Amino acid sequence: MRRKLAAGNWKMNGTGPALAELESLAHTFPDPSVDILICPPATLLHRASQTVHHTGIAVGGQDCHAATSGAHTGDLSAEMLKDTGANSVILGHSERREDHGEQNEDVRAKARTAMDAGLTTIICVGESLEQREAANTLDIIGGQMSGSIPDQSTGENLVVAYEPIWAIGTGKVPTLEEIGEVHDFMRARLERRFGEGVGRSVRLLYGGSVKPSNAAEIFGVSNVDGALVGGASLKAEDFSGIIRALEGA
Ligand code: PGA
Repeated sequence: MRRKLAAGNWKMNGTGPALAELESLAHTFPDPSVDILICPPATLLHRASQTVHHTGIAVGGQDCHAATSGAHTGDLSAEMLKDTGANSVILGHSERREDHGEQNEDVRAKARTAMDAGLTTIICVGESLEQREAANTLDIIGGQMSGSIPDQSTGENLVVAYEPIWAIGTGKVPTLEEIGEVHDFMRARLERRFGEGVGRSVRLLYGGSVKPSNAAEIFGVSNVDGALVGGASLKAEDFSGIIRALEGA
């Protein structure tokens, strides 16, 4: 059985006062029946992990460098994330791929280092609107998965998030059939590459405009094991609605 996961990506949002949202979440879910992960900006990681210490909530980073250390001004290593108390890292988010030109090979190299450091790695894939309209979605997702996911992946160290670029922060969401088609495809790819045991144990998240009002129907789609949530993870009240929907799925 795959344990469901509600992951929040705060992106470049939040300073000290935002930690109150974490306190509130921990208070609302003293003993959650799903995994809850918050990925705040790196500046908040250490304080965030102290805030949720001994609760059912975990903390993760939003990126890391492919190297373990060295002359890389401004970058953070996987080991440094670990040192803050983080247990996970998001890699290959479309905003990193767009803003920083990250390619599949870069994401794979980062994922290898993150897995070696003992972090759970959430690798993001997703098509643009043009690619969807040209009926290239599955080719794109397949290529991103082969290119970005390292061979050492297991059900413990890998989570894959399907995030259609056109659905991120736009309020637009694919139909449930479209989500199901991609998630079933991703499951089949993982089973083919890693064997049924590992392939079936990797959690698959959907991300892109998930809200309390659409979460339950999305969580009812086959092979959706949770969500990667941007905007609606910033407020404990909104994220709580999504977590409740996942607990009830
Ligand atoms: P959104 O972002 O929930 O604000 O659409 C999702 C994401 O980028 O992970």
